[in-house]
Amino acid sequence: MDRFVIEGGKELNGSVVASGAKNAVLPILAGCVMAEGTSIIHNVPDLQDVRTMIKILEYLGAKIKFKGGTIELDAKNINRYDAPYEFVKTMRASIALLGPLIARFGKARFSLPGGCVIGPRPIDLHIKGLQKLGVDIKIEDGYIVADAKNGLKGNYIFLGGSFGSSVLATANVMCAATLAKGTTVIEFAACEPEITDLANFLVKMGAKISGIGSPCLTIFGTKKLKATQHKVIPDRIETGTFLLAGAITGGCVSVEKCQPLHLGAFFEKLIDTGVEVITGKNFVTVKGRKNWKSTDVVTLPYPGFPTDLQAQMMAFLTLADGVSVITEKVFPERFIHAAELNRFGASINLDGSKAIVKGVKKLFGARVMASDLRASAALVLAGLAAEGTTYVSRIYHLFRGYENFEEKLRSLGAEIKREKDIT
Ligand code: EPZ
Repeated sequence: MDRFVIEGGKELNGSVVASGAKNAVLPILAGCVMAEGTSIIHNVPDLQDVRTMIKILEYLGAKIKFKGGTIELDAKNINRYDAPYEFVKTMRASIALLGPLIARFGKARFSLPGGCVIGPRPIDLHIKGLQKLGVDIKIEDGYIVADAKNGLKGNYIFLGGSFGSSVLATANVMCAATLAKGTTVIEFAACEPEITDLANFLVKMGAKISGIGSPCLTIFGTKKLKATQHKVIPDRIETGTFLLAGAITGGCVSVEKCQPLHLGAFFEKLIDTGVEVITGKNFVTVKGRKNWKSTDVVTLPYPGFPTDLQAQMMAFLTLADGVSVITEKVFPERFIHAAELNRFGASINLDGSKAIVKGVKKLFGARVMASDLRASAALVLAGLAAEGTTYVSRIYHLFRGYENFEEKLRSLGAEIKREKDIT
């Protein structure tokens, strides 16, 4: 396994270009299954999770070419509708194939995705929504066995759960509804930009969807969808991560080819701390400072503060003047990074779904271990700001969701290198 070695304490300055959004491209690739033709998807980041999705789609029978950020996906010969545990256990997001497979074949056999370090990750809303469309669902030997014996029928579906909306449950139900007989209304749909991007892609395939970007989606079922072309939106979480790399090192970092409108809640919090945020049509510049103020953060479904930037924001707030309270309302247990950040000399106490972050003057280089995608990014940010050398092990988590991560950081002046983890 590899690790990062980071010499901290250097200001990061300059600009990077945002890659395509991981959490848009995964459900869009899954959606391609619903049309028996070749779809072309542009601005696809070269990530571990994208390559895993490609592997699963090829297992199902798709022919895929992935070159220079473009995927050509020929779904004509897809003739399987099962997703074995071997695939699903490596990437929970493969569950985004469930709705499209049922829409195409009327059935699917899918391994239960199981939990992960950020929480139990239930799929009750996915199941409820699909059942409302007429899908008979059983759980047998750890598999979801789905069968729409009498076809898919439009329905009114309230898709809100105890933590609000569900991104991939919305994706699954919306995809299945595009090929259902009649009209479907999804109340309390997720409004994340990645869901809007998926909906726009489905419309290009011939789906009829109104209310896109709102919590109430109306889908008028159609008989067939056709393959199409689409350019994936920029990754807002990658954008926020690099802006925080600038802020935490007191530098001035810009992210180009991004979508500032997707990060309103995040900018609000950055500005609260005293950091200057300059936004243009497709770029954002953050001017860091030597000192910044604490602020309280509550993660919420979009347009609230994104849970996927919570760990990175926590790293930034470990050096703020004052106490910050971070409340996780999406994944209440998503604090595995707190203990690792404390190894840098941070002062974070957990109290249920809250993290109390008492600002300290300095962080000191440490040996830490990555655990999930966003927590790993938080540890790298802390290492960039810490005095001395930091070793981040198990960095394979990072490559699931950040394209050319260390190269982009090095282009901003970071002293970061990858080496074999000999420990
Ligand atoms: C998507 O996961 C993202 N992944 C996650 O990003 C992101 O953290 C999450 O949405 C929230 O924004 C992809 O898009 C591939 P949810 P998803 O269903 O759809 C509960 C990353 O780092 N819930 O919106 O699986 C759930 O437990 C990843 O890029 C149910 O109760 O998340 C959570 O508390 C991590 N029942 C809340 O809803 C269900 O059936 C939101 O989860 C489904 C979810």
